[in-house]
Amino acid sequence: MKVGIIGAGQVGSAAAYAVALSGAASDVVLIDRSEKLAVAQAQDILHATPFAAPVRVQAGAYSDLTGAGIIILTAGVNQKPGETRLELLDRNTAVFAEILPQVLAVTPNPILIVATNPVDVMTEVAQRVSGLPRHRCIGSGTILDTARYRALLADHLGVSPNSIHASVLGEHGDSEVLCWSSASIGTVPLASLAEQQGKPLDDVVKARIDHGVRRAAYTIIEGKGATWFGIGAGLARMVRAIARDERAVMTVSQVEDSIEGVGPVALSLPRILGADGILGTVMPILSPEEHALLRASAETLIRAAGRTP
Ligand code: LAC
Repeated sequence: MKVGIIGAGQVGSAAAYAVALSGAASDVVLIDRSEKLAVAQAQDILHATPFAAPVRVQAGAYSDLTGAGIIILTAGVNQKPGETRLELLDRNTAVFAEILPQVLAVTPNPILIVATNPVDVMTEVAQRVSGLPRHRCIGSGTILDTARYRALLADHLGVSPNSIHASVLGEHGDSEVLCWSSASIGTVPLASLAEQQGKPLDDVVKARIDHGVRRAAYTIIEGKGATWFGIGAGLARMVRAIARDERAVMTVSQVEDSIEGVGPVALSLPRILGADGILGTVMPILSPEEHALLRASAETLIRAAGRTP
């Protein structure tokens, strides 16, 4: 499958690298306003492919997107230290208004993966501007937050993150919802395993993990100016699920008519990802508090989009 990536900056190039090494794509086309940057990134990534999987990697123009099944949108400005994701909205909406018509002129019915922040509102913008069906306009959403959550739980419990079923829902941002009540390791509720391990999930531990997930990006941005490896790998995971029609479940963002009585809004829930994009949603069983937090997150996103919840 040909994958187009718009934006060859840190996130776009990390995604291109992860997609190229994943073996899920036959072709990766990198597009950027700076042709020099796109060419350099493509060359550097191409030189990695002999160590992994045969894949064509090139810098290109929009015309090179012909036949692409997936287009990943990473173009736009990213957070400055201390800046929230929602503060990027106006600048990145203008970027999408410029990019999307050029993409769709060449690939009229791709699956769009949106990574540009604020990713949930940008997913809504991309769906509205492109006119694509909602299930084919997918925001990376909280795929990375869920990975961070599972990684921190795994570290606390001494088990593999791949054995932990725990999700972060709602906004990819400050109002996101860590679902503690439904988290499990296999069929064993998280709290039960923690007790068995003698590592109870008390309020101090839960607050530490919550902070570690919710503030991860801010901490990394303070240290190196931006994040890119985590989101790059998350985008490649989405590409693999779509390209191979895996029907894998992951927390990603899609426009919904109503969530907890609030909408329309794009936010993350566990979604089934396959060849036609989002094939369905696996609504988790939430505690009353988690329902309220998810509603509050939806309301935050509605206000960020300039509407009244
Ligand atoms: C982060 C960016 C992708 O959370 O928003 O690292």
